[in-house]
Amino acid sequence: MQTVKLALAGFGTVGTGLARILEENEELLFKRSGMKFTITSVLVRDIEKQRDYIPGPETRFTTNPEDLTADPEVDIVVELMGGITLAREIIIKAIKAGKHVVTANKHLLAEHGIELFKLAEEYGVGLYYESSVAGGIPIVESIKESLCVNKIKGMVGILNGTANYILSEMTTNGLEFDTALQQAQDLGYAEADPTFDIEGIDAAHKLVVLIRLAYGEDYPLAKLPTEGISKVTGLDIQFAREFGYRIKLIGQVRDVCGKLEAGIFPALVKYTLLLARVGGNYNAVRVEGNAVGPAFFHGQGAGALPTGSAVLADIMALTKVGKPNNTGFYSSDLKEADILPPEHATSEYYFRFNVADEAGVMASISKVLAEHNISIAQAVQKGDISGPNVPIVFLTHKARAKDVKDAIAKIDSMPFIAEETVSFRIL
Ligand code: NAP
Ligand code: HSE
Repeated sequence: MQTVKLALAGFGTVGTGLARILEENEELLFKRSGMKFTITSVLVRDIEKQRDYIPGPETRFTTNPEDLTADPEVDIVVELMGGITLAREIIIKAIKAGKHVVTANKHLLAEHGIELFKLAEEYGVGLYYESSVAGGIPIVESIKESLCVNKIKGMVGILNGTANYILSEMTTNGLEFDTALQQAQDLGYAEADPTFDIEGIDAAHKLVVLIRLAYGEDYPLAKLPTEGISKVTGLDIQFAREFGYRIKLIGQVRDVCGKLEAGIFPALVKYTLLLARVGGNYNAVRVEGNAVGPAFFHGQGAGALPTGSAVLADIMALTKVGKPNNTGFYSSDLKEADILPPEHATSEYYFRFNVADEAGVMASISKVLAEHNISIAQAVQKGDISGPNVPIVFLTHKARAKDVKDAIAKIDSMPFIAEETVSFRIL
């Protein structure tokens, strides 16, 4: 029986999740592969730390990365530590030592993926990353292999479990934003720096990875319009509900006549759509191919076992491959995508103006919107809210992002505006 020796860089939420599955499913893994999997070494920051899960005696804890990358016994280096400096160095050393690499690190892939994929191709090793996007959902493999014959018209999804957990708890249980975030952190869903989850940065990392898989092109992270959920309030969630929508953090890319329109943004999603029903730490991705049509993927986007499941699937795949398929394209030299300027994107919109309760305000706002070619579909003014200011909510027909930006800037400079206007796209 062949033993596959694994070295883990990182033994936190995902690392321990992987170790637990290896132990629990040992017999199944053997039946499927005829192999035994052993964790020989684990790189951590603090060897003395109390841990909920202790692996067997064959596993050595270390603080020296060389114990992983320079050990000739190690077959696969599994990077589950996060960050982009040491993680990158470890992966580069592992590749140069001829070892396959599995990583859950979407941040690293979004920033340095092009370099790492070229290096892996040069050394003929696998660099697999199923767990980096949408946790346990097999979306990377599905796009790379199962849907690879399709021209991808577009993808839309919920790509961050923490943000989705926060919005779901605010919507369903009326939790405060900070309470819901703390729960997501306690459950092991959040990034080490949760700003990445809240401000859409983590979802942006994942969308960059998905775009490469779907189009074989690089959409540079710095160019991807990215907006998170920090401006979403309980009031907006309540208004959205009244209009029949849920607010979700959305990642979207569309092929518009050969140019890619993409972004991360909070959006109102009609409650009848599957995406609106995706709750808690779940993620979903709807991929539309020119042959397959729409395909919808749904599952847990974060957490120890779902993510560990995706990591282990990569390990299993790498024990079977001849020539690794890292990017899904024949060459790993991915060129920059032709990008549709974000200001040209069109969408329906939700606006919430917070205004002084005076005559003529609604008419003034409507006039500015009309001047910017923004046509109103629905409008509601809440008169039963105490205080000198009232919210006015407009839902619009399709409008151009640039027109929306200019109109809101003009309206926000008007004397009756009490607070910065909130605007979200409608999916
Ligand atoms: P985590 O719980 O914070 O664990 C990080 C692990 O890496 C810890 O064991 C830590 O050591 C070790 N580590 C961190 N920096 C180190 C350094 N400089 N030197 C040595 N060891 C270091 O993180 P996680 O949630 O498992 O996430 C790990 C990776 O998976 C990240 O890239 C994350 O984005 C990705 N990911 C996470 C999830 C999820 O649901 N959590 C899902 C998908 C992808 P100590 O134990 O000594 O502190
Ligand atoms: N922090 C990430 C999330 C982990 O909440 O989605 C999974 O990538």
